[in-house]
Amino acid sequence: MKALTLLRLSFSSSCLLILLVSTLCSVCFCNQNYQNSDRVLCIRSERLALIDLKNNLTDPAKRLSSWVDKDCCSWSGVVCDNFTGHVHEIRLGGHDDKIHDYCYEFDNTDSECVEASNQKLGGTISPSVIKLLHLRYLDLSCNDFNFSSIPAFVGSFQNLVYLNISLSNFGGEIPHQLGNLSTLRVLDLHSDYYSNLHSKSLKWLKNLKGLRYLDMTFIDLTKASDWFPVISNLTSLLQLHFPVCGLDQLPSNPTTVSFTSLIVLDLSYNNFDSMLLPGWIFSLRNLALLDLTHCGIDGVNPGTHVGFHSMPSIRTLRVSSNTFVNSSFLLNGLSSLSNLRVLDVSYCDISSPILGTLQNLYLIEYLDLSGNQIVEEMPKYLSNHCNFTTLDLRYNKFFGNVSELLERFCECESPKLELLALADNLLTGQLPERLGKLKKLDLYNSSCVLTFKKICSYLFLI
Ligand SMILES: *[C@@H]1O[C@H](CO)[C@@H](O)[C@H](O)[C@H]1NC(C)=O
Ligand SMILES: *[C@@H]1O[C@H](CO)[C@@H](O)[C@H](O)[C@H]1NC(C)=O
Ligand SMILES: *[C@@H]1O[C@H](CO)[C@@H](O)[C@H](O)[C@H]1NC(C)=O
Ligand SMILES: *[C@@H]1O[C@H](CO)[C@@H](O)[C@H](O)[C@H]1NC(C)=O
Ligand SMILES: *[C@@H]1O[C@H](CO)[C@@H](O)[C@H](O)[C@H]1NC(C)=O
Ligand SMILES: *[C@@H]1O[C@H](CO)[C@@H](O)[C@H](O)[C@H]1NC(C)=O
Ligand SMILES: *[C@@H]1O[C@H](CO)[C@@H](O)[C@H](O)[C@H]1NC(C)=O
Ligand SMILES: *[C@@H]1O[C@H](CO)[C@@H](O)[C@H](O)[C@H]1NC(C)=O
Ligand SMILES: *[C@@H]1O[C@H](CO)[C@@H](O)[C@H](O)[C@H]1NC(C)=O
Ligand SMILES: *[C@@H]1O[C@H](CO)[C@@H](O)[C@H](O)[C@H]1NC(C)=O
Repeated sequence: MKALTLLRLSFSSSCLLILLVSTLCSVCFCNQNYQNSDRVLCIRSERLALIDLKNNLTDPAKRLSSWVDKDCCSWSGVVCDNFTGHVHEIRLGGHDDKIHDYCYEFDNTDSECVEASNQKLGGTISPSVIKLLHLRYLDLSCNDFNFSSIPAFVGSFQNLVYLNISLSNFGGEIPHQLGNLSTLRVLDLHSDYYSNLHSKSLKWLKNLKGLRYLDMTFIDLTKASDWFPVISNLTSLLQLHFPVCGLDQLPSNPTTVSFTSLIVLDLSYNNFDSMLLPGWIFSLRNLALLDLTHCGIDGVNPGTHVGFHSMPSIRTLRVSSNTFVNSSFLLNGLSSLSNLRVLDVSYCDISSPILGTLQNLYLIEYLDLSGNQIVEEMPKYLSNHCNFTTLDLRYNKFFGNVSELLERFCECESPKLELLALADNLLTGQLPERLGKLKKLDLYNSSCVLTFKKICSYLFLI
């Protein structure tokens, strides 16, 4: 018995020893190997594919100057899997420069524009890239491909999860092959005013069941009359950005609406054939942002309009430039949106009082009610006055004495107000005493919004 135990013991300890020795050895071996500068993670065939990619791109600012040595995994914009060495990510997005429009519009040759355009990659995308079979992430945004077509072979990356080719001056018909990217979660095709990207049908999107983010801003979808049944069937979708797409149909009674997890729905600047605000929108209970600016909406249908009670997560609600004659229906439930930060209902033909409704929404920062026919006495104070960055009430029929209200605004300890616009209402009142010389300002039919803004920010600076 005892002998057996001993034997066992010695057996197991020698086993341990062997294990230990071999571990130590492999550590030494690994270390030695690691320190050897010849060790290259990058896979040769993938390196060659990247070299082809580089050779076919124009690169005035030499952004790809590191693309020379053996280890393509250390090149800028290339990310490999640390164990397999396969290229997983290509991150060649340019700068999201805000001077883009300015440079275009004036065909500008000043140094800032020249430098911005030098930073952009251009030329053609080599078909060799399809050899990067393990690619998961491709970002070519903010470059300039001179309105050439999006290459159809992009549709053959079977593992692609993220594709961003926004603001890169691609043009023409979007290749339907992108619909083969069945693992895609993010598709950003966001374009701009100058682009002529278009799609005659969105059927190709129907198999992208894992898609969470879809941005087709400025893409011409005038002919894609099938857009709604296809898109509303994408059950994983969280963000849908479809502004300025030339859409004219938004069904009021679709048979099914399955994108019920949506957090962002932006359909602004589409001219939908005159219609009432569709009731199904109120079934999107997770929405945090709803933008229906300039959508050709003619009102709400009292029969199906359940009100905003059903969307407690809303933080941003923009419905500017539609017609809501029977506005009290639109306002139904607004007072329960306790997360609301941004509310834009400007130019909506609203006549019913609204400020009372919003009185308890403490988080509102941005409120634009301009260009309506609101007849309402200005309250003596707004409970959330210190949180406002923008309060635009121009072109309405607000009336009353605003002295006290202004006083409150100017007493905030850390005021955030950037725009306070009251022009062209029926207001009276005095500016707070702290204004010094400018003691009185007649706000009746006042057109001096700018002056007023200046005065107030001056006051806040003291
Ligand atoms: C792309 O690069 C390859 C060599 O890598 C070259 O043979 C081919 O002509 C290039 N094509 C274009 C369109 O520049
Ligand atoms: C891969 O290695 C690089 C460099 O050593 C490191 O920065 C990175 O975090 C690693 N990535 C993963 C997923 O382990
Ligand atoms: C862009 O395309 C146009 C015509 O399609 C061509 O004339 C022009 O040379 C191209 N510009 C560059 C920089 O390749
Ligand atoms: C995409 O899938 C279609 C079939 O749906 C197939 O005919 C086509 O070759 C595929 N395209 C690519 C680029 O893989
Ligand atoms: C795509 O790229 C643009 C420009 O770099 C960036 O602003 C945008 O957030 C990216 N989109 C996504 C979904 O990451
Ligand atoms: C919606 O998706 C389901 C299942 O994925 C499919 O059976 C149905 O045909 C789709 N409907 C439309 C209109 O695409
Ligand atoms: C507005 O509502 C009133 C009654 O509530 C109704 O008589 C009228 O037809 C409505 N007008 C519009 C344009 O919907
Ligand atoms: C301003 O917003 C904060 C949250 O950011 C809130 O707690 C506070 O009550 C608001 N202040 C006013 C005066 O409404
Ligand atoms: C407005 O109210 C202030 C303070 O409450 C008062 O001093 C002022 O006379 C009023 N102005 C008008 C035009 O009623
Ligand atoms: C003042 O109001 C009158 C009519 O109410 C209007 O005709 C005029 O344009 C307004 N003035 C300014 C400066 O807005």
